Amino acid sequence: PRNASRGDDGVVRLAGVDVRELAERYGTPLFVMDEADFRARCAEHARAFGDPTLVHYASKAFLSVEVARWVAQEGLSLDVCSGGELAVALRADFPPERIALHGNNKSVAELAAAVEAGVGAVVVDSYFEIARLDQIARDRGVVQPVMIRVTVGVEAHTHEFIATAHEDQKFGFSLSSGDAAEAAGRVIKAEGLSLVGLHSHIGSQIFDANGFEVAARRVIELVAQLRDKHGPELLDTLSTVDLGGGLGIAYTPDDDPPPPAFLAEQLRTIVSKECEHNDLPMPKIAVEPGRAIVGPGTVTLYEVGTIKDVELDAGLSRRYVSVDGGMSDNIRTALYDAVYDCRLVSRAAEHDSAAVLCRVVGKHCEAGDVVVRDCWLPADLAPGDLIAVAATGAYCYVMASGYNRLPRPAVVAVTDGTSRPLLRRETEDDLLRLEVS
Ligand code: LLP
Repeated sequence: PRNASRGDDGVVRLAGVDVRELAERYGTPLFVMDEADFRARCAEHARAFGDPTLVHYASKAFLSVEVARWVAQEGLSLDVCSGGELAVALRADFPPERIALHGNNKSVAELAAAVEAGVGAVVVDSYFEIARLDQIARDRGVVQPVMIRVTVGVEAHTHEFIATAHEDQKFGFSLSSGDAAEAAGRVIKAEGLSLVGLHSHIGSQIFDANGFEVAARRVIELVAQLRDKHGPELLDTLSTVDLGGGLGIAYTPDDDPPPPAFLAEQLRTIVSKECEHNDLPMPKIAVEPGRAIVGPGTVTLYEVGTIKDVELDAGLSRRYVSVDGGMSDNIRTALYDAVYDCRLVSRAAEHDSAAVLCRVVGKHCEAGDVVVRDCWLPADLAPGDLIAVAATGAYCYVMASGYNRLPRPAVVAVTDGTSRPLLRRETEDDLLRLEVS
């Protein structure tokens, strides 16, 4: 987080709040969000793209009612991809016209809830959905604005599980097969729908702008093709090109992601060139950053429980540091081979304490339960110490499980020397609440 600092006593303060105080008050594991960092990244994206409403914060990365309020106050729009995320947004009184609903298999109930809430766009992803949504809108006597999710056929350089624009995967209408143009035709004909944009999302944790540029170019070509087929009046409503999320962040000091302003500039250049070439007016360029807004400003605090040195071959050994959470609060290391960095934060290391290569592991009953595969921690690290894993704001809490019946951690916000809970820790009563007998 931007507002993390280590005092003369070696103790880390997050937005001025002592980590020991946070652990004492809320327990560990604990997600600590630097509110100012989150808001600053919202503002940075808004500035880069010239209009805050063109930046849709991707709630899947992390959402709570209060965070939805921060996003609303910063003037951004919101991308939701389920009835649950929509419900959180509506509970926060998020302006519905600034919400877009995504998903490859939205239920009828989810579509109906979105239409009834008056969301600004539904991003349609299949022919079945176009027909369903049209029916739902007509039944209610409204015209629902729609974007079409286009599969642009880009191989994004990221983990296979989170790349989404190559042909052989479940999302979107293929450009190359003509499905995207066919889907647009059906939306244009549907009485209950109005085509307002084309959407592409190429993947996540991406560091170079090339994939976005190729996507932008192909989407603009499709706009031109649709104009030629359906007439220039189409452009009165079809005015947005949404290039999705995916901008990468630094998980360790070695990562060097491009700033949002750089990406925005690249996209504007490529889109305007392509529009000129096709004699099109400049569209609005929207994006959907999740990780790049919420990722960097959050840390997970864990308490060290046990430490074990395990002998490897050739006289080497590995130090296993076990913490009080694990793959239930951060599945990303196990699932994507994600690399994290962590530090001792509750005190300074002894002066003569060398750094030891450690593996930070959780308390779950399986060997793959690794939080940080390799990191250097002081040799005098001891049970009771607090360590912090950096950049855990995106896709950690929201992918948390109750594996081994561990309660989900609390999430707290820190601002100007004070802390307050956003989501309380699960309790054993919560775990037992679902039991029927
Ligand atoms: N828009 C759409 C349509 C998306 O599918 C996603 C992410 C985003 C925006 C936001 O992407 P971001 O800016 O956060 O990269 N669980 C994985 C990430 C999956 C992302 C899924 N879609 C992870 O932990 O890395």
